[in-house]
Amino acid sequence: MRVGLLTGGGDCPGLNAVIRAVTRSLIRQCNAEVIGINDGFAGLMEKRTQPLTWDNVGGLLGLGGTILGTTNRLDPLQSEAATQRALDNAQSLGLDAVVAMGGDGTMTIAHGLAQRGLKVVGVPKTIDNDIEGCERSFGFDTAMATATEALERVHTTGQSHGRVMVLETMGRHAGWIALEAGIAGAADIILLPEIDYDVETVARVCQQREQQQHFTLICVGEGAKPAGGQITLDTPAPTDHGKPRLGGVAFALRDQLQPLLKSEVRATVLGHVQRGGSPTPFDRVLSTQFGVRAAQLVLEGEFDRMVTMQAGVLDSIPLSRVAGQNRRIGPNDPLLQMARQVGICFGEAGCA
Ligand code: F6P
Repeated sequence: MRVGLLTGGGDCPGLNAVIRAVTRSLIRQCNAEVIGINDGFAGLMEKRTQPLTWDNVGGLLGLGGTILGTTNRLDPLQSEAATQRALDNAQSLGLDAVVAMGGDGTMTIAHGLAQRGLKVVGVPKTIDNDIEGCERSFGFDTAMATATEALERVHTTGQSHGRVMVLETMGRHAGWIALEAGIAGAADIILLPEIDYDVETVARVCQQREQQQHFTLICVGEGAKPAGGQITLDTPAPTDHGKPRLGGVAFALRDQLQPLLKSEVRATVLGHVQRGGSPTPFDRVLSTQFGVRAAQLVLEGEFDRMVTMQAGVLDSIPLSRVAGQNRRIGPNDPLLQMARQVGICFGEAGCA
């Protein structure tokens, strides 16, 4: 059996750990030949590969990024000719199956190719934790840990200077990183893409805190926007993944709040610090679980499916349930309710 592995979309901590787990599990169980496909689906379109062996995946467990490289260039679904080229190349490379690690975009492509006959298994990766049908993607825990540490750091300096500190986290249109890091990092205000914020309310919370605690810690997801306002874009033009690049809401919020407050408002954008570097122990274990389960799906011939984690249980679901979807924080999410109980404000009018 010959199996190809690829990593698509943005990188995230734990990809190399999955590569190691899939490779070793397939070799151990059926002495499979495993090949890495370079740079996501672009490598399949251009037939660029590298051998993966028991030995050369050694040392990958804690390594950040992806040794296979990744890009959003060359979408095999962009035209019939591109789709056919991807399928032909998979055949001429002698691939009996492909394991595709990625986010919603990669899963959508994987499903499209599966419908055309490619034997593909998906593995959910993203720091954003926004893949439908999966309560925890690997990479999220690491990003959350980094954002939590950053909040704690801006907390101490903000408290020393009596400032309002705004920390912006990634996550695109899902606020999971902001929500969980905000709770873990003791933010006073958390602003999410899922809940439009009212500037006056946010200012009122800061003013109340100016009287007593003399500082305020705000964690804002990059996709958050004021009621009636727009998402802040770093680059309005589409990037290589075809979507506008989000970023800068922390600076926009600073400028909205500053005229309303006595204390100085300072903004920090965390950016790719959240995505790079070594995975946490939790993500190493999760990546290994996902990788071994993906190998099992390949061996059982369970294709057009994605490995998943639901209610703490490892499972798999059809890729059709994932393709084109985005998992966002619901209005009744238990974490939201819990956070409100400890006094965290989500910027909704009337919460202060
Ligand atoms: O989807 C992961 C993510 O890190 C988002 O949180 C962020 O908006 C985006 O990717 C950034 O992508 P890029 O590195 O391509 O600018």
